[in-house]
Amino acid sequence: MSIRPILIHPDPRLKKVAAPIEGLTDQLKKLAEDMLETMYDAPGIGLAAPQIGVSQRLIVMDCVKDEDAAPEPMIMFNPEVIWESEARGVYDEGCLSIPDQYAEVERPAEVAVKWMDIEGAEREVKMDALWATCVQHEIDHLDGILFIDHLKPMKRQMITRKMQKLKREMARS
Ligand code: NI
Repeated sequence: MSIRPILIHPDPRLKKVAAPIEGLTDQLKKLAEDMLETMYDAPGIGLAAPQIGVSQRLIVMDCVKDEDAAPEPMIMFNPEVIWESEARGVYDEGCLSIPDQYAEVERPAEVAVKWMDIEGAEREVKMDALWATCVQHEIDHLDGILFIDHLKPMKRQMITRKMQKLKREMARS
């Protein structure tokens, strides 16, 4: 396994719609394992393939926050929201591609998600709370949408300017 560099917003690769995965290959399974390792290392609770520059529909997540609890790594190929609740929930969201910036985003509080697992089997599950927020945030990445795209333009521009400054500083050091 290896840790992959995470792209920082703004980057055109984060704005692309990712391609569906046709069939599982060893290379894709390796990519998924690398993404989990990259996510845990960051540390984060979710990562989408476009964030490491791979424009394919693959996300990984683990929303278990309690350090004493067993990890629940999830690898999801072609994840899709197939149902969402009318009830909405608000979370203070962040993103590994937008480091140290957080803002409240409102989304459906519960969703049902369908995906293909690492064995190639179709899976379906209902998620709520942080898991629901996280899976919607990660699927957004596959459509070139960042959490700041859900914010008012002023706030989005402010965060984007901070990221441009951060990237200039990173390029210099
Ligand atoms: Ni993100």
